[in-house]
Amino acid sequence: MPAKAYPIFVGYDLLAQPNLFQSHLHKAVCVVSHPEIAASYFPLLEQTLQKAGARKITSLLLPAGDAHKTLAFAEKIWSFLSNLHYHRDTTLIALGGGMIGDLVGYSGACYMRGLDVIQCPTSLLAQVDAAIGGKTAVNLQNSKNLIGLFHQPRMVLSDLNTLQTLPNREFIAGLAELIKYGVILDAALFEWLETHIVEILARKPQALERAVVWASQIKADIVAKDEKDQNLRAVLNFGHTIAHAIESIYHYEKYLHGEAVAMGMIIAMQLSLALGLISANLLDRLIALLTKAGLPIFLPDGITLEAILAKIQLDKKHSQGQIRWVLVEALGQAQLRENVPLPMIYDVLKASGASM
Ligand SMILES: NC(=O)c1ccc[n+]([C@@H]2O[C@H](COP(=O)([O-])OP(=O)(O)OC[C@H]3O[C@@H](n4cnc5c(N)ncnc54)[C@H](O)[C@@H]3O)[C@@H](O)[C@H]2O)c1
Repeated sequence: MPAKAYPIFVGYDLLAQPNLFQSHLHKAVCVVSHPEIAASYFPLLEQTLQKAGARKITSLLLPAGDAHKTLAFAEKIWSFLSNLHYHRDTTLIALGGGMIGDLVGYSGACYMRGLDVIQCPTSLLAQVDAAIGGKTAVNLQNSKNLIGLFHQPRMVLSDLNTLQTLPNREFIAGLAELIKYGVILDAALFEWLETHIVEILARKPQALERAVVWASQIKADIVAKDEKDQNLRAVLNFGHTIAHAIESIYHYEKYLHGEAVAMGMIIAMQLSLALGLISANLLDRLIALLTKAGLPIFLPDGITLEAILAKIQLDKKHSQGQIRWVLVEALGQAQLRENVPLPMIYDVLKASGASM
C-alpha cells in the first residue's frame, strides 16, 4: 500500500511561515542540523515552530560530511531523544543537505518504531532529490547507504533562501541531478536548462524557483509511481554506475556525487550512441550543458580501466551478474539494458580517458 501523500513546499521565506508547519507538527520537536547551517537558519525556524504551536523545541548539531552518516551518529540522535524523554508524539526535523536528511530520516524511522519526520533540505541536491521519496540510510564502513529503510516524511519544505549560503561547488554538483532529470525524463526541462543555465548559476530567484519546483515535481511523480524502488525509479540511476565507481576509487573524497554523476552521464550517453540509440548531436548537447554548468565531462586523469571495471562489478545494482545500464533512447527517455557488450564498454571508457 502506498504511503500517505505528503506536501512538498518550494519557495522563498518558507522557514518563516508557521502556517506551513501547523498541521504537521507535534508539540515536541527536535531539529537536527550542522553547526554552520543552524547558525544561519535555526533561530528563524525555532521562532516559526513556536508560533506554529510547538512547546518543546531542542536542537542537536552534528558534524557535516558523509563520514558521519553512520550508525554511531544515528545512535547519538536516539540517545539525545531518549535522554530528553522524547516519545512517539515527536516531530524530528532535518535541517541540512542530503546527509542530514538521510541520517535523520533513518533515525526517525527506527526510534520508537517511527517518528514523524519533516525534511527541510538546504542543499540543491537535497531539495531536488534526496529529501523527496522516503529513502533513508546510513553508511556502513565504505559501503554507501547499505543500512536503510523507506520512511516517507510528513512534509518537505524547501526554502530557497537557504541556497544563498550553499558553497558554489555544492550548488553546481546539485545541478547535475537537475540535468539528469532532463535527459532521462523531461526533454522540456533539458531544453529550458540549456537556455537558463546562466541565470540558475547566478542563483537568480525566479529561475532557481522554477528549476527546483520543476525538478521536485519530477522526483515526486516518479516516487509516487514506484515508491519502493522496484522498477521505474531505477532510471534515476542514470550516470550512477560509473559515478559510484569513481566516488569509490577516490574514497568519496575527491569528487562530489554530482561531479561523478556528470562524468557517468557522459559515459552512459556514449554507450547509448555506440549502440545506435541516439545521435551524436544529443551527446554534444549534454557535453555543452554540463560544461556551461561547470561540471566535469572527462574521466579523472590516471584512472584505469581495471579499477573502474572492478568497481562496477561490485555495484549493488547488478542483476544476475550483469551490469545494469541506464541508457538514453531519446531526449527525455531512458531504458534499462543489461547486455551491453564488454568490448564496447572498454572502448567508451578508453575514449573518455581511462588508461590501461
Ligand atoms: N535519500 C535519497 O534519495 C538520496 C538521494 C541522493 C543523495 N542522497 C544522499 O545525500 C547526501 C548528499 O547530499 P548533499 O549533496 O546535500 O550533501 P551534504 O548533506 O553532505 O551537504 C554538502 C555540504 O554542504 C553544506 N550545506 C548544505 N546546505 C547548506 C547551506 N544552505 N548553506 C551552507 N552550507 C550548506 C553541508 O554542511 C555540507 O558541508 C549523500 O549522503 C547521499 O547518499 C540521498
